[in-house]
Amino acid sequence: AFDIGKLRDQTGYVTLDSGYKNTGATKSAITFLDGEEGILRYRGYPIEQLAEKSSFLEVAYLLIYGALPTEAELSHFSGQITKHTLVHEDMRKIFDGFPSATHPMAILSSLICALTGFYPQSVSPDLSPEEMELNIIRLLAKMPTIAAWTYKNNMGHPLNYPRNDMDYCANFLYMMFSFPTEKYDINPVVVSALNKLLILHADHEQNCSTSTVRLVGSANASLYGSVSAGINALWGPLHGGANQEVIEMLEAIAADGGDTSKFIAKAKDKNDSFRLMGFGHRVYKNFDPRAKIIKKAADEVLQALGMQDSPLLKIAQELEQAALTDQYFIERKLYPNVDFYSGIIYKALGIPTEMFTVMFALGRLPGWIAQWKEMRENKEPIGRPRQIYTGELERDYVEMNAR
Ligand code: ACO
Repeated sequence: AFDIGKLRDQTGYVTLDSGYKNTGATKSAITFLDGEEGILRYRGYPIEQLAEKSSFLEVAYLLIYGALPTEAELSHFSGQITKHTLVHEDMRKIFDGFPSATHPMAILSSLICALTGFYPQSVSPDLSPEEMELNIIRLLAKMPTIAAWTYKNNMGHPLNYPRNDMDYCANFLYMMFSFPTEKYDINPVVVSALNKLLILHADHEQNCSTSTVRLVGSANASLYGSVSAGINALWGPLHGGANQEVIEMLEAIAADGGDTSKFIAKAKDKNDSFRLMGFGHRVYKNFDPRAKIIKKAADEVLQALGMQDSPLLKIAQELEQAALTDQYFIERKLYPNVDFYSGIIYKALGIPTEMFTVMFALGRLPGWIAQWKEMRENKEPIGRPRQIYTGELERDYVEMNAR
């Protein structure tokens, strides 16, 4: 029989909070989030202002170092990143070992972890501030190169080396989409939309992937190893993987004849595991402030690219309208989240669906770095959650012939 007294003796008292819905894991000075009011601020600055006025590298600097950079600081920071965009030539060989069906997120996390092999000093638990700085710069600089090469390699295209005369976003688009045989023109509308998307994804306090980065890092694991773990967490369809699932869902609805009401009914049916991807959020019980900005950006991008009549966009708009007026979604406070619209923009920008979550990782990188650095600098103890044990109480080993 279950003996609570005996169990207590064995485990002591612990608080159970499945999914950490109400448990703070750390103190942090990086990102403020009020899910009830729909407020998001990086280091105190409202996301709306940053998305409108800032550049992605400026926001990265803000998140990592705590203040907006002066012109000289930003120029030094961008210059350092530009200097480190190349990756070791031996990294190209690692790509060859992956079967062609490998998901880009698996390749990305493997290659980010592989950086530890090229920079062995990075695994030291006692990094000097200069070494920590260099690891941060390397990671910010090399991630776009690795991400773009992941795509090019999967497509069997020649790999493009970084162009240091271009800014962060333009260089990434160049590495993704240009061919040595053709002239590649950068579209400023696309560059500006990408800049905005990356800023909106740059940090979101203690979400699943960021908590993973901090937890792994709390064991004194390296920055590259910790971020590699975060990439795998982000890949999950309930987290960053949702942006890929949104487009796949919209395409499935289109292929099925475009009847959105059928899919809304499925999402409400408790005997059906189908969920409306891109709706709902653990923390936002109000409109996701990022979704508002992205929705506007999506309209502008589709207009500028002449794609405002896209059938997928029409389905997305119908779903959004239906969900915003349906009691089921209203009662549960299920609003469209950032992933609902980001997938639509990525699609319009020509980013292949399986690369959507890689784009999210590219955006989230400064947040992961800032959180890892904060955790290290605060000398946080190793993360080690407890449990409520529900297994067998003590029992004697049974000999094989007696089982
Ligand atoms: N479609 C239909 N019903 C939903 C949805 C959805 N997308 N999301 C939540 N619900 C329902 C649940 O079935 C549950 O209903 P019940 O109370 O009748 O049982 C209720 O709303 C609460 O849902 P939970 O799963 O308990 O909420 P939780 O906070 O744990 O989950 C999550 C949040 C994972 C984001 C969820 O809303 C979901 O699965 N959404 C779809 C996936 C998605 O878009 N993920 C991206 C999140 S944003 C990001 O990571 C950047």
